[in-house]
Amino acid sequence: MKKTSEILLLAVFTFYVTNCAMAQQHKSKLLQFDSQIDNLISQMTLEEKVNMLHGKHMFVSSGVERLGIADMIYADGPFGIREEMQPDSWMPLNLENDKATFFPTGSALAATWCPELAYKYGTGMAHEARLRGKDMILGPAINIQRIPTGGRTYEYLSEDPYLSSKLAVGYVKGVQDNGVAACVKHYALNNQENNRGTVNVIIGERAMREIYLAPFRASVEEADAYGIMPAYNKVNGEWCSENNILLNQILRKEWGFAGFTVSDWGGTHSTVDAITSGLNVEMPTKKFLGQALLDSVKAGKVSEEVINQRVREILRVRLAIKPIPAAEANKEITSQPQQQKIAYEVATKSIVLLKNEGVLPLNLSKKKVIAVIGANAEQIMATGGVGAGVKALYEVTPMQGLKNKIGDRAQLLYAKGYEPVTFSFADMYKKKTPEEIEKANKEKQVKAQKLTQEAVELASKADLVIFVAGNNRAVETEAIDRKDIFLPSGQDELIRKIAEVNPNIITVLTSGAPNDLNVVKPLSKALLISWFNGSEGGNALADVLIGNISPSGRLPFTLPVKLEDSPAYALKNYPQGVKNTDVFTDLVSTTDGKDNQKKKDEISNDPNTAYYSEESLVGYRWFDTKNIPVMYPFGFGLTYTIFEYSKVKTDKDKYGKDDVITLSFELKNKGKIAADEVVQVYVHRINPSVEWPAKELKAFSRVSLNPGETKTVALKVPVKELMYWNDKKQSWDYDPCKSELMVGSSVDEIKLKKEIVTE
Ligand code: BGC
Repeated sequence: MKKTSEILLLAVFTFYVTNCAMAQQHKSKLLQFDSQIDNLISQMTLEEKVNMLHGKHMFVSSGVERLGIADMIYADGPFGIREEMQPDSWMPLNLENDKATFFPTGSALAATWCPELAYKYGTGMAHEARLRGKDMILGPAINIQRIPTGGRTYEYLSEDPYLSSKLAVGYVKGVQDNGVAACVKHYALNNQENNRGTVNVIIGERAMREIYLAPFRASVEEADAYGIMPAYNKVNGEWCSENNILLNQILRKEWGFAGFTVSDWGGTHSTVDAITSGLNVEMPTKKFLGQALLDSVKAGKVSEEVINQRVREILRVRLAIKPIPAAEANKEITSQPQQQKIAYEVATKSIVLLKNEGVLPLNLSKKKVIAVIGANAEQIMATGGVGAGVKALYEVTPMQGLKNKIGDRAQLLYAKGYEPVTFSFADMYKKKTPEEIEKANKEKQVKAQKLTQEAVELASKADLVIFVAGNNRAVETEAIDRKDIFLPSGQDELIRKIAEVNPNIITVLTSGAPNDLNVVKPLSKALLISWFNGSEGGNALADVLIGNISPSGRLPFTLPVKLEDSPAYALKNYPQGVKNTDVFTDLVSTTDGKDNQKKKDEISNDPNTAYYSEESLVGYRWFDTKNIPVMYPFGFGLTYTIFEYSKVKTDKDKYGKDDVITLSFELKNKGKIAADEVVQVYVHRINPSVEWPAKELKAFSRVSLNPGETKTVALKVPVKELMYWNDKKQSWDYDPCKSELMVGSSVDEIKLKKEIVTE
């Protein structure tokens, strides 16, 4: 229970927030069901109500059969519908029909810089969810990519709140317009996996609002998200699943969220605090919101009105989403051609070309010998580590894609080159003796030497090497952050050796997060990132390499020169350096929680605190403001053509608070290949009254241009998008000043500038 002083503080805060923010609260479609719901609630017993507030099975929470209220059926998310599992464990059911489409993961989707595609992606996810009888997709996952090593960077979208918001809104709308609820996760500040189940994030309110909450706010206010998943961690001292400020005050009262919250799996910590602070469903257990809740109501610690409200919030979604009878689910195979097409389209637009010294697109006129080197050329990325994976119907690997698209126009040879990192739960729990470790290391070394030798031999016989390097899903995984961003499995050493015998190297990185490119960049004539790119990833990559499609993805995050340059590292805010025992381990071994409570208590006593003292200077905001050189900047990506920017203007020079700035300019494709450019508008404040990052993304658009074509591009920036969170007033505020609108092809390549004044 909370102390009286805390409750008083909260009351003052509530008054403030409700008064400052109520005026702008969005009206959810879900409110239309309330009178029907009152009637339903009046017929329910207390037991029936409480029964709706916790897990029934691993991915199911209860309805009330007697009243025709169906159970709520959840599916992971976020990049494909997870396979069917046994009701009360993580063990698969081994069905045939649950093979789904593997959609490109979050950072790949973000690299498209295309909200319309995010909408299509959501549509595809919803169609597959419906075939499987699911009501709510546990996704999208939209936390800001704060550290390059973050285990879930590949699931998340971007380091920038504006880009993340636009894509999250597209995804959520796509899902919900097609009859499925989205559960946006992980609210909030789940920006690291190490100690995610214990870490307490200490952050100032301005950075929290402007950077970390912004995509969640947009998902609620602009897309009317029906579900929110409170994260595992604490924020400013309170667990997210019982954080009155985050759940009741900001999410519900301020933003007008009308749906329900679902704890992250095993992320509930209390009964009275959780239910009164705004948690609706404890998943997948009933340790806190089961009998303990019933007892608390009976003992007068929780009023029945609170229970009614939590039930009402669930019922709103239940009435908005049509349940699918179990007999109708899983009749057809989940992955359907329509969805595979969407996965392909996203993949083709996500690939980022970082460097090209005239070797791409590939010239296939002379039947070349191409050595494809690297285990990632044949590596499946739909599964691999801890957490949500997709049992994909199929996955076209880079090697398969090259074979499909090149056919006999070149001779394609393959060498594995390195032993990929693998993951298994058995290995995670098995403690090895020092002798066993030494023996394993020796074997590894011998194997690596052999693989290197084979690869170098192959490279020496080839006209060209396509080096398929990067991470995989065992390297980037839920529950643990990477220790560094170096290419794994000795890939740097391997490329050095390959380059000695063949300098014609094209490097493809299949990673979901940043890598250190100091070795690989100078040794590669061309360098691309092709992500964890879904079922059609290999086909999309081959189409880009051979020039069927001009690359058009743009970096959704900064690639630093070295990890230590990035803000949380530079300021020694990360890593916090304590032991890493994950909440997930509890759920894997048992669901009753008893054995693990002791273990958990020990961990909670750890002084385990993440300070966000870099405040708003996350990602490019840090590098740009502090003038720290980067390897490749946020927003960067080359194409097979050249674009020319000219004639920038705005509709006015001075703007009032309610105005929308319209900025336009001309964009010309000066080359011989049709291509998309992603134009970006950054705002730089010239004479502000408060501190700002040097530049902030405030508009962008993907523009398709044929060779020689010119288009006038118009972009809109509402002045209210330029507001800041005023800590003193505890509200959003304007900072009237002179600003420069900067049009560019990345945060570091500004092509045009236009000064404006906001009043
Ligand atoms: C993850 C969630 C996921 C849930 C259910 C948790 O470990 O953090 O993102 O939805 O498991 O699989």
